[in-house]
Amino acid sequence: MPKYIFMLGQASDLAKAELLFCLGPSKHLDIIGPNFIVAETTQTSQELLAKLGGTIKIAKFLDKIDSLEKLDASLWQKYIEGGLSKNEKIFFGFSLYNDSQKNYQAINRKALSLKKQLQSQDYKARLVTSRQAELSSVIIAKNKLLGRELIIIKHDNYWLLGLTEVVQDFADYGHRDIGRPYRDDKSGMLPPKVAKMMINLGAGQSLPKNILDPFCGSGTILQEALLLGFKNVYGSDISSKATKNSLDNLAWLKANYKLPGLATIKNSPVQKLSQAFAKTKFDLIVTEPFMGNALIIQKTTDIKTLQNIQSELKNLYQEAFEEFYKVLSDKGKIIFVFPIFILDNKKIATLDEEAISSLGFVLQKPWPNSGQLSATGNIIYNRVGQKVAREITLWQKKLNLVQPL
Ligand SMILES: C[S@@+](CC[C@H](N)C(=O)[O-])C[C@H]1O[C@@H](n2cnc3c(N)ncnc32)[C@H](O)[C@@H]1O
Repeated sequence: MPKYIFMLGQASDLAKAELLFCLGPSKHLDIIGPNFIVAETTQTSQELLAKLGGTIKIAKFLDKIDSLEKLDASLWQKYIEGGLSKNEKIFFGFSLYNDSQKNYQAINRKALSLKKQLQSQDYKARLVTSRQAELSSVIIAKNKLLGRELIIIKHDNYWLLGLTEVVQDFADYGHRDIGRPYRDDKSGMLPPKVAKMMINLGAGQSLPKNILDPFCGSGTILQEALLLGFKNVYGSDISSKATKNSLDNLAWLKANYKLPGLATIKNSPVQKLSQAFAKTKFDLIVTEPFMGNALIIQKTTDIKTLQNIQSELKNLYQEAFEEFYKVLSDKGKIIFVFPIFILDNKKIATLDEEAISSLGFVLQKPWPNSGQLSATGNIIYNRVGQKVAREITLWQKKLNLVQPL
């Protein structure tokens, strides 16, 4: 079975969980520090990259070596042989992760001797380098380095070698984030990659028959669900402006991408969800709910203000889960974001596990061992310096337990 090295993006805990869920159970899987996973899979790197929001590079696994001496110009040439042609200029390069500047220089010398070796064989070879030891996706795309970028990862006392096959399409993600007609910066928008990771956590390897976002805002989760191939996508929001924005954004999406799915969007408060969707049972609910007035939360230095918001939100979330119970199918799953407010060193969490469990739900924690978990064992998504962290949770109705990874 083909073996790959997966490189994870910034939200690496979320990305790690997403990847493991999408790969499914695997006997041959190694987690290499916070940013890399090595795994065997029958899915192609292109298929996987298109599906995953948190993986930024996938390389074919080549070898594991215990000394850099073993990597010489002739071995390196063998690795990139498939990408060589005498009819065009050949760009090649390498990225070194988790290693010293000294070793970077040593590998750079090997790369230069490979360049000489290729030139002596009549190839028009050019070595691509950047200021960093790692080549960015932009550099890789610009210089057509797929199949010709060697990645070298130092871990414990060995190095993993791989050849980059695909990198995340940064331009397309940017296009669907800032290119769409409506962005609502006031109530906060989820980056499309995070929306996609959340959907994948709930969906796993095969797509459920439908999905609902009951706080759909500008429709980021609905958009990513359609792009992932969901056939039936549902959204609702208390604000008629948000409902209209979602509809306009999805119309824009349909005009720009080929999408098989249909979206239904309703103007309804979450408290009346079971009336708004009286005839539909959902297999998956994925949502980033209302997280309090962003302007007040950003400005305030008063813990009481945040505690008041905390208790209002706890009530709202409880009301939401009461309705979720009515519209969720028995085996359905919920991915729900609970904000955590950070003031100085204090964390004010809005998750009340007991209250929500008492409604007939179980909080599942099948995540891989990782550093960025909350005190309650859920995944945290947080950007440095942000005042609101997102605690990402997975729920099912009681007795429907997810197998731990
Ligand atoms: C954080 S935003 C969601 C943003 C969305 N994830 C996106 O990327 O565009 C929260 C949304 O919840 C909506 N909302 C607030 N209270 C609600 C309620 N009681 N029922 C349904 N929607 C509500 C707001 O109108 C807002 O659009």
